[in-house]
Amino acid sequence: MVIKTENGRVVSPFSCGIDTRNGKMDDYDTHVQRYLGKLASMFSDPEAAETYLKKNGDVLIYEVYEKDIPEADGEIRFCSSITCPGKIGGEYFMTKGHFHSRPDTAELYYCTSGWGFMLMEKESGEYAIEEMYPGRAVYVPGYYAHRSINTGDQPLISIPVYPGDAGHDYSSIEKSGFRHIVIEKNGKPQVVENPRYGKMSG
Ligand code: F6R
Ligand code: MN
Repeated sequence: MVIKTENGRVVSPFSCGIDTRNGKMDDYDTHVQRYLGKLASMFSDPEAAETYLKKNGDVLIYEVYEKDIPEADGEIRFCSSITCPGKIGGEYFMTKGHFHSRPDTAELYYCTSGWGFMLMEKESGEYAIEEMYPGRAVYVPGYYAHRSINTGDQPLISIPVYPGDAGHDYSSIEKSGFRHIVIEKNGKPQVVENPRYGKMSG
């Protein structure tokens, strides 16, 4: 179903289904799929990523189904975010992560399936990590970069809801990464400092 817009705004009420078990959205407008081949440098051990690629070929790390709601002040955008299970050199599969282009905008993630974490970090160094599991809502305040991390063995599915004009700013994460990463240690997820923080690219 096409969302009708007038002056860049949604003017017709609509509804859509999101399957809480597999994350599929009915009548989505955009489907983004991010594969390891293009995300290898985001992991703290890019060599392990290259080895993984050689052994397994390219694999899907996460995908997002979206409605094309205008990126305008006053609108609410929402999607379905699905992070696959897996690890690269002990680091769990995760989303790229981003700040919002309008940095003061917050976001709410409602988890419907799977198990994992939301890692949130401010430029100033403050950070927080919240668990994600079915029925759990995570509030990401403004000014926090955020990334979902799948520490389980099933897809981690959540529905992010955020202001229309929030936007995505991936640049500093691509360049510097997050200060923290989540890795498996003795069979359990553990938050540790990112050895490549500040030098993810180059
Ligand atoms: C929107 C938002 C989510 C993510 C999605 C994919 O502000 O936070 O919809 O965009 O979970 O993650 P990224 O954007 O980091 O690739
Ligand atoms: Mn966001």
